[in-house]
Amino acid sequence: MLILGLETSCDETAAAIVDAERRIRADVVLSQTTLHLPYGGVVPEIAARAHLEHLDQLITQALGEAKLGFGDLDAVAATGGPGLIGGVIVGVTMGKAIALARGIPFLGINHLEGHALSARLSHDLPFPYLLLLVSGGHCQLLIVEGVARYVRLGTTIDDAAGEAFDKTAKLLGLGYPGGPAIERAAKSGDASRFPLPRPLTGRPGCDFSFAGLKTAVRQTVENLSSRAELSLRDIADLAASFQAAVAESLVDRTANAIAMFRDRQPGGRHLVVAGGVAANTLLRQKLESLAAAQGLTLIAPPLRLCTDNAAMIAWAGIERFRLNLTDGLDFSPRPRWPLDPAAAGRGGRAKA
Ligand code: KG4
Ligand code: ZN
Repeated sequence: MLILGLETSCDETAAAIVDAERRIRADVVLSQTTLHLPYGGVVPEIAARAHLEHLDQLITQALGEAKLGFGDLDAVAATGGPGLIGGVIVGVTMGKAIALARGIPFLGINHLEGHALSARLSHDLPFPYLLLLVSGGHCQLLIVEGVARYVRLGTTIDDAAGEAFDKTAKLLGLGYPGGPAIERAAKSGDASRFPLPRPLTGRPGCDFSFAGLKTAVRQTVENLSSRAELSLRDIADLAASFQAAVAESLVDRTANAIAMFRDRQPGGRHLVVAGGVAANTLLRQKLESLAAAQGLTLIAPPLRLCTDNAAMIAWAGIERFRLNLTDGLDFSPRPRWPLDPAAAGRGGRAKA
């Protein structure tokens, strides 16, 4: 079985072909980072136009890499939301057009489901597992009970973790995307110099909050720069202090989620971390220790599968296709699409 996956919900245009034996036959990603760089963040109109300009070439490239033609595909899966709607429309329309022209099924995939199932593409991982999903747009703790069966334990009440890295990097003049820049600057920094808050730490539940932390960084920058220009040492120490605060806060919330996971799924053995922020070495180390202390195994898909990509969309397509969960050509792109609709009303921001 071969499925073509398309991803266009944010600032990566991507096409991939995956088979049911978990082999990635082709995986191409075109990042728009340089297009959005001058604006310090993703501009939706620019993103949608760039997806439209490049998606057909990327599909041709993916088919070429896999040495396959359209006639070899069993289905096409496209991210159907949540995300920047202009881009989602581009991918969904392209996916439906291919499905209609070739007479094969179409699947509209929830981008979060793509992230949630990506560890089953890279690893031989059984359900259920606990997932920490940390990216630029999402910050959630979910129990993945099965395909299409997700229980959201917590989400952010303000910014996503990656968003906090990006905004803080901007404050420190480190550029975009902020996560890698902060991690680099933090390497030579002293994480104990600035006592920044650990939002929600020690409180019950699994929700996240990063807005207060960002404000604390801003106030520290203002205090320091009222005396003299920020030195490289100040920037490195602030980056290290911020990174430690985010990692500790994420780990504290994940520890609470593990207790809830144990109650619901006593047989569960795995903690999975996915999303762009999963690239952060300090966070990985802290999660590794937490998992070991709790008798769980930490699984982190390779970086290429953690950041936005189309292989995870194709794989979610395979998982759904096997259960006959295909969609009609009347599928509507969705700017918002919670994975666990029952949780959407319970606290947090309805961002995803
Ligand atoms: O999953 P992703 O590629 O896109 C979204 O769906 O948002 O995640 C991108 C986010 C950005 O906010 C970026 O700053 C963050 O992941 N990120 C990191 C690191 N690498 C990327 N954050 C912390 N440390 C990193 N090394
Ligand atoms: Zn994503």
